[in-house]
Amino acid sequence: MMKPRPLGKSGLFVNPIGLGGMPMSIQGRPDGTRSIRTICAALDAGMDFIDTADVYCLNDEDIGHNERLIAKALREWGGTAKITVATKGGLERPRGAWMENGRPEHLKAACEASLKALGVDCITLYQLHAPDEQVPFAESIGALRDLKQAGKILHVGLSNVSVSEIKAAQKIVEIVSVQNECNLYDRETFEEGVVAYCEKGGIALFPYSPVGGHRRHGRVSDDALLQDIATQHDATPYQVALAWLLAISPVMIPIPGASRPESAQSSAAAMRLQLSPEDIARIDKHSA
Ligand SMILES: NC(=O)c1ccc[n+]([C@@H]2O[C@H](COP(=O)([O-])OP(=O)(O)OC[C@H]3O[C@@H](n4cnc5c(N)ncnc54)[C@H](OP(=O)(O)O)[C@@H]3O)[C@@H](O)[C@H]2O)c1
Repeated sequence: MMKPRPLGKSGLFVNPIGLGGMPMSIQGRPDGTRSIRTICAALDAGMDFIDTADVYCLNDEDIGHNERLIAKALREWGGTAKITVATKGGLERPRGAWMENGRPEHLKAACEASLKALGVDCITLYQLHAPDEQVPFAESIGALRDLKQAGKILHVGLSNVSVSEIKAAQKIVEIVSVQNECNLYDRETFEEGVVAYCEKGGIALFPYSPVGGHRRHGRVSDDALLQDIATQHDATPYQVALAWLLAISPVMIPIPGASRPESAQSSAAAMRLQLSPEDIARIDKHSA
């Protein structure tokens, strides 16, 4: 198993692949029993970090669905002591749409609701889901700083941000993590310099949709190069895609989503997959 990776400069460490909770709570989600089995399977297999959000749900009447599911799974699994749960605020789901709301009042109310849904007194990592163009960025980040000062959250993370937004946020509060879309078919996070900036500043980077996305992951399983490398390692193309992310930067902590225990177990096993420099070079060339 690869060594745990730092959660930025928080002093916390997590195993290098975490669980993304989204597929268990949005449209097409499985029943609760299968979701609980999926979360427990991930934890049994060595994942100790779970990414969620208040808006992983069907619509505004269902806010907190994924957080409540995770809280229930952790109770059934037998304890939260060694598990880090990160959630997010800053979006809403009116009639099932995804809409930004970065107003300080919304973020503060959303954080209170997340504390309740997760059944905790303090959220270890609270991430701004996305900047809201209608609200000055500094006001949204200021709300997170206030939540931290009030002891409601321990650490602050960002999501869907550029380097200039990370820099602007860092003037207001310490940022321990960034969560942007990043996989071998989507390299914007590299090209825009976010990966390099996180490496330089010791910020953890959660690549989301690391195997291509909830509805698009078939591209990874059908990828001939990944299949070829997978066969050589007695692995799957998904595991190769995850191991590549881990290999290309020490700040990467992929958070593959799962709605089946088998997917979570398979993703966790990618923490043991060591690609050769030649494998990495082939994938780099393929994805560039
Ligand atoms: N911050 C943001 O704006 C944002 C946006 C999107 C996602 N996220 C976060 O990132 C997480 C991951 O993104 P995602 O769920 O969109 O996409 P993803 O992780 O690229 O793909 C998830 C899908 O791939 C399948 N899968 C994953 N690992 C597998 C494996 N090892 N073997 C076989 N199948 C595997 C799963 O299938 P099954 O369902 O069949 O298990 C799952 O539904 C989300 O869950 C969420 O926590 C954040």
